Amino acid sequence: MNPAATSTDNWSEVQAAAEAALPPDVVTFIAECRKDPQPESQLIAVLHRVQEHTGYLASAQLDAVAQLLRVPAAKVSGVATFYHYFHLHPRGRYMINVCLGTACYVKGADKIAARLKEELGIDFGQTTTDGLFSLHAAACLGTCGLAPVLMINDKVHPRVTPDQIPALLEQTVAADRTPAA
Ligand code: FES
Repeated sequence: MNPAATSTDNWSEVQAAAEAALPPDVVTFIAECRKDPQPESQLIAVLHRVQEHTGYLASAQLDAVAQLLRVPAAKVSGVATFYHYFHLHPRGRYMINVCLGTACYVKGADKIAARLKEELGIDFGQTTTDGLFSLHAAACLGTCGLAPVLMINDKVHPRVTPDQIPALLEQTVAADRTPAA
């Protein structure tokens, strides 16, 4: 071992590994942010850019952002987990949000959630192995008058019953396969 090894030597390796974990334009953006007197004020903007590329924030990417922006790793993961719009796992092509808010719950939202879990074979926060569906619970989707409600991507499905779930999943995939007229 070279006793003269310095933290600068190590930093080159750390920097190279961190840069390799991120898209090049994000690396460039972080370099710009570093010119800011308070680079960590740009943390959310940086994380948004990373997620735009990969659809979610992998732990290696969070570490890389911490290294390059020179922000503590705990702060980066704290921000990534705090905001609901950041995702820490790969997301399915179809994001299902089941409302478990009060208005939906009293109309049987728990049974809808149970049927979705059964049909998809996943729990909340998970994605099917074919990458098609991700399942999430929502507190209220803002359409209480249509309870019970679920959303698949941007589309609201009102007054859903558990028995409608299999057909709803099939229709969602089939609609995507149907060529536009
Ligand atoms: S409680 Fe379900 S939409 Fe408001």
